[in-house]
Amino acid sequence: MTKACKLAAGNWKMNGLRADLAEARALASGLASPSCGVLLCPPATLISAMAESLAGSVVMVGGQDCAAQASGAHTGDISAQMLADSGARHVILGHSERRADHGESSELVAAKAQAAHDAGLVAIICLGETEAERDAGQTLDVVLGQLAASLPQGAVAANTVIAYEPVWAIGTGRTPTLAQIAEVHDALRAKLPDAAISLLYGGSVKPGNAAEIFAIANVDGALVGGASLKAADFGAIIAALDAA
Ligand code: PGA
Repeated sequence: MTKACKLAAGNWKMNGLRADLAEARALASGLASPSCGVLLCPPATLISAMAESLAGSVVMVGGQDCAAQASGAHTGDISAQMLADSGARHVILGHSERRADHGESSELVAAKAQAAHDAGLVAIICLGETEAERDAGQTLDVVLGQLAASLPQGAVAANTVIAYEPVWAIGTGRTPTLAQIAEVHDALRAKLPDAAISLLYGGSVKPGNAAEIFAIANVDGALVGGASLKAADFGAIIAALDAA
């Protein structure tokens, strides 16, 4: 069985102006040659400038969403091909903030992931239960249901990454226990169409908890929000993944 690649992915969300590219450059210049992939997903307005400013470094650049359609009359939307043309290699899809704020269903996420694949992008598909769903004992049902419905045909390790992000752990400073993360990741690995697809954990990953999370068997990396905005914090998380 091919082993999944390790990936540290930063999600800047709706944060970052041109001046903040200095933080991305500081991150890149502080990295020697990590054994894991390193990715920053800034807002769409910064993708092109970040890709130019990080050219030649190990840090890859990605988007945070794309349209399901390839082109056309979709005011305000951005196609996967446009992201690729701007220098993106990856795109985050189905983040819980988009599922909640924009009503994105798993079926729409699968269509977007198909569009990403068609444009040559790696789709990072996000899944996760709400606190109420966890309290009701529905975590595995919810997450495995989202996985089945959000994956497009032809999803393999070369074009797809899965991020398990419990909604209640995002931006809250709360994380599941290591056993809870392991339970979900083990269940996800067993259902992947390609066992070498990387499985990231996301939700309040910080320098202080990264090493113990990366020591979990089926955790191949992290999707990091708040802590990816600061080069020192994200750099420390990357170092923990590198050492795992
Ligand atoms: P957080 O966000 O690291 O700030 O909790 C994670 C995410 O939403 O991807």
